Amino acid sequence: MRGMSNNPHGPRRQRLLETMAPGALILPSAPVAVRNNDVEHEYRQNSDLFYVSGFDEPESLAVLRPGADAPYCLFVRPRDPAREVWDGQRAGVDGAKTDYGADQAFSYADLATELPKLLEDQPRVYYQLGVDAALDRCVLDAIAKVRNRAKFGVVWPTEIVEPGTLLHTERLVKDAHELDRMRHAISISTEAHVAAMAAAQPGRFEYEVEAVINGVFRRRGSERSAYGAIVGSGPNATVLHYRRNDRKMKDGELLLIDAGCEYGYYASDITRTFPVNGRFSEPQRRIYEVVLNAQLASIEATRPGKTLADVHDASVRVITEGLVKLGLIEGPVDRAIKENLYRPFYMHKTSHYIGMDVHDVGPYFEGKQPRPLSEGVVITIEPGIYIAEDAEVPEEFRGIGVRIEDDVLVTSDGHEVLSAEVPKSVADVERACAA
Ligand code: GLY
Ligand code: MN
Ligand code: MN
Repeated sequence: MRGMSNNPHGPRRQRLLETMAPGALILPSAPVAVRNNDVEHEYRQNSDLFYVSGFDEPESLAVLRPGADAPYCLFVRPRDPAREVWDGQRAGVDGAKTDYGADQAFSYADLATELPKLLEDQPRVYYQLGVDAALDRCVLDAIAKVRNRAKFGVVWPTEIVEPGTLLHTERLVKDAHELDRMRHAISISTEAHVAAMAAAQPGRFEYEVEAVINGVFRRRGSERSAYGAIVGSGPNATVLHYRRNDRKMKDGELLLIDAGCEYGYYASDITRTFPVNGRFSEPQRRIYEVVLNAQLASIEATRPGKTLADVHDASVRVITEGLVKLGLIEGPVDRAIKENLYRPFYMHKTSHYIGMDVHDVGPYFEGKQPRPLSEGVVITIEPGIYIAEDAEVPEEFRGIGVRIEDDVLVTSDGHEVLSAEVPKSVADVERACAA
């Protein structure tokens, strides 16, 4: 694990500058999303830009150039007292240097005139095309301007390289600073899930439980949810990305909660499923235990050298065995796996990377082969069984949806379940519901 630092951004830039092949790395800010008229959606910085800069204002852009006189250049919104009355203080051009360590800083309005100068004598540009058409135009125009000076001996960028090739393998492996933040985000989400188990009751609405969750997030200093919370009762638990959260919960139903907060730009992503009235019915418990055993098998399969395909296959086997045993699909198990008979009930993958983004960056494949897990990677493990209300199965199982999701760190010799404190066994869940 890499060293801990209070300000991790400078060392990250340094490492990038020391290891990247010559060129100019261009990292733009996230766009401002207008909600309606002059009201904007909450702003969140682009994760790549934040990772190297810690700068969270919109209309900004970083350029990193190894070996240049000014290797780290920031474009930012200039100070503007009239605007700052409305939106709060900006770092400004001077603050970009004094507070954020830029060697050189400009107003974002000067990007079109300054960028060509920064691309002179750079053999390549690391820039993600296809996200922002106006910025693509600006970068391509800047390259064309430098190319026009080739006859004067100026080197111009002849390659445009995906910046993820530099940044995303770095971001995939979490350093001590990142793990600290992830553990904190997970501890907040843990409290929220425990509070939700205590709060849910027949007759309450899903949004009342959502409010409990979001209340814990904000009360404990989380900036925001890492994604919109899913609070699905009864048949809503079988809708994978259910978001309305507006149904009245009934006695005898399950409630599936998939909710995680973000803390310091790091996500958590946790799912628990529990009985609204605090006691699993027999069919609910039987399905729940299949999912739980699948999840434990996938956790067991998580260690360096294994792949996410191995982790997924472990869940698929246990889920298929369970579905055959319960009479929901036909055996034998090996044939049922080969013919994907589990798919109508388990239609998603078991894991994704998690970090700054809930579905985090980082390569899933090396060429055509799944990439082996390595120390410092954090993944989710989230198998489920979802039985539609109209499924052709014994009636007692219809409308049952169960998912169990934890965040798991790959360690040098295995794994650590970072969200292990959230109740998960049938007994622990029932105890938390009764609290
Ligand atoms: N909460 C989104 C997911 O589980 O992937
Ligand atoms: Mn989730
Ligand atoms: Mn997830």
